[in-house]
Amino acid sequence: MDRDAAAARLEELKELINKHNYYYHVLDNPRISDSQFDLYMKDLLQLEKLFPDLMTYDSPSKRIGGTAISAFKQAKHPVPMLSLDNIFSENELKEFYLRLKKALNVDEVVWVGEPKIDGLAVSLYYEDGVFKRGATRGDGITGEDITHNLYTIWSLPLQLKEKITAEIRGEVFIPREEFLELNRLRNGRGLQPFSNPRNAAAGSLRQLDPKIAAERSLDLFVFSLIHTSLTKPLPSHWDTLQYLRELGFKVNKHVSLLRGLEQAVEFCSYIDSKREELPYEIDGVVLKVNEISKQEKLGYTSRVPRWAAAFKFSSEEGITRVKDIEVNVGRTGAVTPVAILEPVLLAGSVVKRASLHNEDVLREKGVMIGDEVVVHKAGDVIPEIVKVLREKRTGHEQSFYMPSACPSCGKDLKRLSGEAALRCLNPACEAQLIEKIIHFASRKAMDISGLGESAARQLYESGLVKDVGDLYYLRKEELVKLERMGEKSANNLLIALEQSKQNSLYKLLVGLGIRFVGERVAQILAAHFKSLPRMAEASVEEMNALVEIGPVIAASVRDFFQQPETSEILQKLEKAEVAFYDESDHAIKEGTLKEYNFVLTGTLSGHTRQEAKALIESKGGKVVNSVSKNTDYLLAGENPGSKLEKAREMGIKILSEEDFNELII
Ligand code: IVH
Repeated sequence: MDRDAAAARLEELKELINKHNYYYHVLDNPRISDSQFDLYMKDLLQLEKLFPDLMTYDSPSKRIGGTAISAFKQAKHPVPMLSLDNIFSENELKEFYLRLKKALNVDEVVWVGEPKIDGLAVSLYYEDGVFKRGATRGDGITGEDITHNLYTIWSLPLQLKEKITAEIRGEVFIPREEFLELNRLRNGRGLQPFSNPRNAAAGSLRQLDPKIAAERSLDLFVFSLIHTSLTKPLPSHWDTLQYLRELGFKVNKHVSLLRGLEQAVEFCSYIDSKREELPYEIDGVVLKVNEISKQEKLGYTSRVPRWAAAFKFSSEEGITRVKDIEVNVGRTGAVTPVAILEPVLLAGSVVKRASLHNEDVLREKGVMIGDEVVVHKAGDVIPEIVKVLREKRTGHEQSFYMPSACPSCGKDLKRLSGEAALRCLNPACEAQLIEKIIHFASRKAMDISGLGESAARQLYESGLVKDVGDLYYLRKEELVKLERMGEKSANNLLIALEQSKQNSLYKLLVGLGIRFVGERVAQILAAHFKSLPRMAEASVEEMNALVEIGPVIAASVRDFFQQPETSEILQKLEKAEVAFYDESDHAIKEGTLKEYNFVLTGTLSGHTRQEAKALIESKGGKVVNSVSKNTDYLLAGENPGSKLEKAREMGIKILSEEDFNELII
């Protein structure tokens, strides 16, 4: 491909990627398959590699994490980034409302309610519609330039729908799911887990190397437009939010226009009730006077605007006592200390246990049995002990030491090199086997209702189920004999098992409980391989080449499929007709190769030319005879002709038969 053709294709790819990125990450409504999107990205990266000077300021390749910076630059905020006054009760909310009414001399205040995202404030600067730089809040006057990391946020538009010059402010956060996954990975790698998503987001943005932020799936909501070249009037905050949406930003979907005090109170309690369900953490509601002229009339103190306030939800921290410390054996054999607490009410639920993760964390926090501790709970994240109140010690507290033998099977525990966790390496350890069944049936895995902790334990202890493969051979006559298992629950369990056979491949993959393979990694693997047998044969290199799959994960997957126990389980599952293939993948139906032109040369060993052509066409691709600037791929077999030379010269992507097989799966 010559330079001009590459430039044109790059523009086209950039537009396609930005468009579909917007559908996926901003509107949460993808229009093409992930694999199609990956193909566009792959093409873009390849072309930019061939013609580095064609890489533009707003290229989507920046999302993947460019070069590291050597130090943070300071970024002065032309307009200070202020804070918000807090409101802690309905009474205080009423006082605030009455103050506003009086100052504005109105009968009713119209305001906007927004969830208060518990993340990190950022300021984003756009010039002529192109994202130029962004910074943290810092002390409100000067922050740090974190442009390199902000690029990695897929929902941050690199190009706005209008060519305005403006500063936009919002909050960067890590969704709960991503946070849990991140901590699982960190724990597995012997790294200290982050105590909450906010710290994780902050830690990710304060990295010199953007590859780290790129791995962490940061997200962004915006809520302010500071100064702008825009001439169109935006008389209210509500109009501003709609306009930010039109520009291509993600604005929280729960924002509401509210009239009077009652609606504001209702909104606060509604959002509080939704709090646990939201996929990100919030710590309150922000209430803002809607009309900009009224905001201006109210003005600012040196610290906060007088026209807004944060209604904070009830505390998520509490003080309680550690009654005991137990050890828990997980499904991977990791032995974790767990603090048994005097029950304490936190954020609307009773907390009785808190994970201490591993011996290092336990020592670092210095928790002893009998200690008074501060406990923090964030959404559905496992409660954490924040700190020990040492000043409350009486001298009767007892130190805790991790056992040297597995509390379940009695075998010696090992600390593998580079790992923080102690492990029971006995594959026949009962605690692990039961945990594996519980995990397999859990909601994020095979989602088998009626198979919770106690049923799993019962099935295992009765000898009916030794591994997850046995689940699909359960018979009603056997089930009804179990205690607390009536005919109805036996039937329901069998139906749930039957239904689970048709689950998407990634759910099965999550269920198998491979180390480091959580929901996201499973989705990536399933989208790429689309078949469990293919995955089982895949080399570490092949997996490692996938975006977001590193060598640790790849080795773990490879290792899992090489275990003799694994093939035994897989055989049982296969015989029971549990789906090993992702037939629901709409990529195939839609045509993964749509809009792609192929040229064939040489002899293929696995297919005739006719077959290869049919395969390409079955996925929406086209096969043409000669290489031109419109050619996307040259498929080169043995003894290729002159087309190969020509394609090379033009910078067209050349596929070996092996590459082709991978593409066509
Ligand atoms: S408006 C003048 N809206 O909360 C301050 N802030 O405590 C305007 N925050 O620094 C801020 N969600 O980082 C606003 N929907 C929201 C917010 C929000 C989270 C953060 C923001 C701000 C802090 C103030």
